[in-house]
Amino acid sequence: MNSRECQHVAIIMDGNGRWAKKQGKPRTAGHLVGSDNVRTIAIAANELGVKYLTIFAFSTENWKRSQEEVSYLMGLPDIFFKKYMKEFIQRGYRIHMIGNLDELPTGTRNVLREAEEESKENTGLHLIIAMNYGSQREIVEAANAYAKDVKEGKKQLGINEEEFSSYLMTKDFPPVDLLIRTSGELRISNFLLWQIAYAELCFVEESWPEFTPDLLKKCIEDYHHRDRRFGGVK
Ligand code: IPE
Ligand code: IPE
Ligand code: MG
Repeated sequence: MNSRECQHVAIIMDGNGRWAKKQGKPRTAGHLVGSDNVRTIAIAANELGVKYLTIFAFSTENWKRSQEEVSYLMGLPDIFFKKYMKEFIQRGYRIHMIGNLDELPTGTRNVLREAEEESKENTGLHLIIAMNYGSQREIVEAANAYAKDVKEGKKQLGINEEEFSSYLMTKDFPPVDLLIRTSGELRISNFLLWQIAYAELCFVEESWPEFTPDLLKKCIEDYHHRDRRFGGVK
């Protein structure tokens, strides 16, 4: 029995497109329902004692999709925060963004930055949204920033893992305890490669729009039955 708190849950929200197709709807309809489910699952996570919830909303590879789909996804944060921001503030949630926001359309970037700004005094659930995020890119950027600091004489050569972590976009958050991926795919797709070093993994068959608070609860219960050894012996 693993008694370590499940304080940081990360989710690869997959399967919106396939879910929509099954209903005879366009892929974008799946993204809309999927975005509403972020609210439902954030509330459930908070009630289950999760302190940090990181969700994968758009990857650095998702630009390969049709222009129509990409442009819909870029418009979604506006729809999402118009619907739910007031409630998030009331609930005390703090919104953070990770990813290369500079490459997003200005309107999208502004909406995301505003959500961070508006909620920055909150002390409840940290809801971290990964938008135009790619973990390999993040690690390379961290290495470059460190090299620059060395060159400018601000850092010594030979840092350890903890110091390197402080160059990552996730520097303010603890490591991931539990990683969930919906929709049956058994891969990480360039998400939080460094941060999941010792995370427990949970893959569920249901697509993201079908993922319920009960399924989240089941994943967390499962987590508590895992034996996290961190390389040691029990
Ligand atoms: C996840 O669902 C949402 C994003 C990647 C933006 P998908 O859009 O990947 O849905 P499937 O996997 O094609 O069904
Ligand atoms: C990962 O899902 C990215 C997000 C959930 C935002 P994808 O659907 O893009 O991943 P692949 O292409 O199946 O690996
Ligand atoms: Mg997918």
